[in-house]
Amino acid sequence: AALRVDVLTIFPEYLAPLGLSLIGRAREQGLLDVRVHDLREHAHDRHRTVDDTPYGGGAGMVMKPEPWGEALDALLASAGTPGSVPHLLVPTPSGRPFTQALARELATEPWLAVACGRYEGIDERVLEEAASRMPVTLVSLGDYVLNGGEVAALAMTEAVARLVPGVVGNAESLVEESHEDGLLEYPVYTKPPVWREREVPAVLRSGDHGAVARWRHQQRLERTAVRRPDLLHASAALPVLTGADGL
Ligand code: ADE
Repeated sequence: AALRVDVLTIFPEYLAPLGLSLIGRAREQGLLDVRVHDLREHAHDRHRTVDDTPYGGGAGMVMKPEPWGEALDALLASAGTPGSVPHLLVPTPSGRPFTQALARELATEPWLAVACGRYEGIDERVLEEAASRMPVTLVSLGDYVLNGGEVAALAMTEAVARLVPGVVGNAESLVEESHEDGLLEYPVYTKPPVWREREVPAVLRSGDHGAVARWRHQQRLERTAVRRPDLLHASAALPVLTGADGL
């Protein structure tokens, strides 16, 4: 497969959607190799305990280091090419923002792993030791708090996997998307031409391809200015704003 993704979690069922739709089909086609592992397989007491109280006190529980250490050992031992290591992603609200640019970087890698934490997080020594053995990136889906890393693992796997050649049928649909060039997408319409007294913009039915392209570009600029003015200040959008059309 072009991309292998291992997900380590105490809730393997949470990753079931990776068997569906485009990602499920890509797995069947051998383009993607997604493996979900139950962290509790590496907890050996009667209750298969994975968490404990925090040193220094405070609210909540912390994930114990031993199951994580063993799970990461097993992961490295499963390398297809001896000595190869995955790029380990650790979802956390204190991580690097996960963006389309990061998704593109990750899509060039052959092997990713996602360590899904729950509770107040994973014992810091796990991350330190992992970083001595493989590349580790802490990633945040956004400035809000989820209950654990599983939803982030789903989102990141989908965002990265769809950039792997062949996973998305129409490669053109990948470049004309929001966040690929720093502007939001233009509005889209299909038949019927009038629906509940609302008409499709005439320019789209004019057959004038140049006029359609100019209208769409203008829509992208206006939408971005209204909905996401922060994006207009990002460097990727500047060539668009200062380009040949003089805007
Ligand atoms: N885990 C909990 N909240 C998260 C977030 N916002 N992003 C990534 N992982 C998380």
